[in-house]
Amino acid sequence: MSVNILAIETSCDETACAVIRDGREILSDIVASQAELFKLYGGVVPEIASRKHVELIIPVINEAIMKAGVDIDAIAVTKGPGLVGALLVGIAAAKGLAFTMNKPLIGVNHLHGHIAANFISDSELKPPFICLLASGGHSHVLLVRDYTDIVTLGKTRDDAAGEAFDKIARALGLGYPGGPKVDAIGKNGNPEAITFPRSHFRDNPYDFSFSGLKTAVLNHVNIAKQKNEQVIIEDVCASFEKAVADVLVQNTIRGLKEFNLNRVVMAGGVAANSFLRNEMQKACDQNHVRLSYPPIKYCTDNAAMIGSYAYFQFLKSDFESLDLNAQPELRL
Ligand code: KG4
Ligand code: ZN
Repeated sequence: MSVNILAIETSCDETACAVIRDGREILSDIVASQAELFKLYGGVVPEIASRKHVELIIPVINEAIMKAGVDIDAIAVTKGPGLVGALLVGIAAAKGLAFTMNKPLIGVNHLHGHIAANFISDSELKPPFICLLASGGHSHVLLVRDYTDIVTLGKTRDDAAGEAFDKIARALGLGYPGGPKVDAIGKNGNPEAITFPRSHFRDNPYDFSFSGLKTAVLNHVNIAKQKNEQVIIEDVCASFEKAVADVLVQNTIRGLKEFNLNRVVMAGGVAANSFLRNEMQKACDQNHVRLSYPPIKYCTDNAAMIGSYAYFQFLKSDFESLDLNAQPELRL
C-alpha cells in the first residue's frame, strides 16, 4: 500500500507545500518564493517573511491538495532549523491539518530534507553514501549510513558556504541572492587569477571555515579600489568559487575514501553551483564513483524534499504530538 504525505516548508523565504508518494514520487509541488521581495532589502527580513507566509500558506496548501487529488496519510512539516516566526506559520498549519484530518504529524529537520531531495531526483539512490550538504545556513560532510542514520563528519566553524557567496556578492554590489549571480559572472573569469586562502584544521580535517576567505575577497577588492586599480569582477568570482570548491571537494572525497563508499551526493542551495558541480564531477570521475545532485529547483528550499524524508520517518512511526514547537537551532 502506498503512503501519500502532505509536506509543508516555511523555514525561510519560500512558502511551500507538496504531496509525495512513498518518499520518491511528486504528486504536487507548489513553491511561492519571496525572493523578489527581499531583493529590495538585500536579504531576508524575518518579520516580513513571517507575514508573507501567513498570507500565502492557505492558498499554497489548497493548490497542492487539489493538484495531487489523493487521500493524505500523514502531514509533515519542517520543525527547524530556520527563522522562528517563519517556521511557526508552517507548524501551526500542519498541526491544524493533522488534528482536523486525524492523521499523524511528522516533524522534519530541514537539513534531512535537503539530503532527501536526491531520493526524488534519483529513484535508484540508496544509502550508504557520502553527502556534501552546503546551503545558506549550513555546510556539512555527512556519512549517510541509512535513510535515518546520518553521521556528521565535519562542518563549518563559522560562515556557511552559501553565506560566503551572499556576503561577497553584496560587497561586489551584485545584489541578493548572491550565489546564482557569482555563479553566472564567475563563468567568464579565470579561477587561477587570484589565490585566496583555503582552510584546514588539524583536529578535524573534515571541518571548514569560510570567514577568512570572505575577508580575503573583501580585502582584495578594497585594496584594488584604494590603489585605483581595476577589479576584474569575473576573476574575483571565479577565484572565490575555486577556493570554496577546493575544500568542499577535498573534504567530501576524504570521507568517500575513509569509509570506502562508491557514491557521492550533493545537496542544498550551493549544490546548484556550476563550478562546484564540475569540480566534484572531475573528482568523482578520478575516483571512479557516481555523483548525484538534484536539479537546481530541488537544491534550494522546497516542500517535496520534506515530504520525501518524512516518508522514512513514517516507516519508523516517528511522529510528533500536537504540542510540536519550532526549533530554530535544530542540528543534525
Ligand atoms: O538551501 P537553500 O535554498 O537555503 C538554506 O537552507 O539556506 O540555500 C540558499 C543558499 C544561498 O546562500 C544562495 O546564495 C546559495 O544557496 N545558492 C548558490 C547558488 N544558488 C543558490 N550558491 C552558489 N551558486 C549557486 N548557483
Ligand atoms: Zn534550505
